[in-house]
Amino acid sequence: MSGRKLTIGLFGFGVVGEGIYQVLKQTRSFNACIKKICIKHADKKREISESIFTTDADEILSDPEINVVVELTNDPEAAYHIVTTAMKNGKSVVSANKKLIAEHLPELIFLQKKYEVSFLYEAAVCASIPVIRNLEEYYDNDMMQGICGIVNGSTNYILTKMLDDSVSYYDALQEAQLLGFAETDPSLDVEGKDAVNKISILLTHAFGVMVHPDKILCKGITGINHYDSVYAAQNNYKIKLIAQAGKLSGNKLASFVLPQFVTPESQLFNVNKEFNGVVIESVFSDKQFLYGKGAGRFPTASAVLSDLSALRYNYKYEYRRSQSAELPALSEDFYFKVYVSFDSWKAVDIDDFEYLEEMNCRQGRQHLVGVISFQKLQAATWFKKPGISVILWPEAVLENLELRKLKQQSLDLAGVKKEDETEKFILTGHPVVFV
Ligand SMILES: NC(=O)c1ccc[n+]([C@@H]2O[C@H](COP(=O)([O-])OP(=O)(O)OC[C@H]3O[C@@H](n4cnc5c(N)ncnc54)[C@H](OP(=O)(O)O)[C@@H]3O)[C@@H](O)[C@H]2O)c1
Repeated sequence: MSGRKLTIGLFGFGVVGEGIYQVLKQTRSFNACIKKICIKHADKKREISESIFTTDADEILSDPEINVVVELTNDPEAAYHIVTTAMKNGKSVVSANKKLIAEHLPELIFLQKKYEVSFLYEAAVCASIPVIRNLEEYYDNDMMQGICGIVNGSTNYILTKMLDDSVSYYDALQEAQLLGFAETDPSLDVEGKDAVNKISILLTHAFGVMVHPDKILCKGITGINHYDSVYAAQNNYKIKLIAQAGKLSGNKLASFVLPQFVTPESQLFNVNKEFNGVVIESVFSDKQFLYGKGAGRFPTASAVLSDLSALRYNYKYEYRRSQSAELPALSEDFYFKVYVSFDSWKAVDIDDFEYLEEMNCRQGRQHLVGVISFQKLQAATWFKKPGISVILWPEAVLENLELRKLKQQSLDLAGVKKEDETEKFILTGHPVVFV
């Protein structure tokens, strides 16, 4: 067996922690052993001998024999202390904690470099799918155009159950929790925050830019309801929570996490239940699709195992794209085509829209389809309200030029000869379809 021997201090013995313990037991040829496991609750019943457990983090962090810390807790604050102290003490670190990584990446990269250790986190994004390593290594010299994906297994499980099996939102959420797909705090999943943390990490590896998750527009799936499912089915769409980042003109980037209608032509259409799927688009290779289990004990442990394997050869992420002289900048200067459903027209300010293409004004649940600027959507008070469902249209992002073309087409259709730049476009020239 080649490669250096790994003496591991493991933090966390929950879904993933116990998973990596079992996986390492089954891969005996692997030159690694777990010396100590730090947990939070000493009195919790465990399946293995008590002598390996401790609640004192320093027993691992100050042990010179331990050269690798595997951080699999569910506590991002404790994880920050564990990961930073481990690196300062000369230990390489493997973590699956996307919140910690997304919020502190610049500092963690700095510590990796300063203390000449490795910091790997493949399990933090899409668990078993090797998306980070692929972006780092395979696409190194390619010109990235975009990355989009279903990166949260538990919301995908809930949406699949709601749309395909007509299960209620709450029953589907409970099932996802029982199966171990959901985060300990499920609001991280359903409000889209987990997906935001992941796209923030992917932005670094795909485009070299570091964006704090708070700066990324996001709305989760809590507003999605039966009316939306019926609308999607009637149009042969599925609804998926999509995290995405894509190049705009002028070396600008659009990035956000929102529910989106997905057509059968999209590779993401058949990504169901707890599965994740990521489409990577680059200038030369065009679109490529990665698919696999994005949550659960063994899929997540498999990514941790892969990082441990890479550590035997002192592998590090190089963050080469971040060193580019022409890094793209995150833009707010573009438009979305969106579907919005609500219980009353009073709930939404239609003046926020550039124009509307479809309206249902019948009694009961109602909806519109229209075009709105990113900035207006981000600032709208109605956007964040829980009873309002916002779902992107399949080809949702429009830039200025495209918008002006569409606007002109609509004015032509409506018989308006000369475009008046100052004219308010909402409902003035566009033939709105009432459904
Ligand atoms: N579950 C998944 O499918 C999945 C997928 C990808 C990534 N992840 C990430 O993997 C990490 C672990 O998730 P999980 O699902 O395994 O969580 P979990 O089942 O809730 O287990 C968390 C573990 O962390 C321990 N812990 C909490 N605070 C601690 C502290 N201060 N010091 C030491 N141990 C502490 C807990 O100890 P006790 O046992 O004593 O309570 C428990 O063993 C999270 O960052 C999560 O986001 C999970």
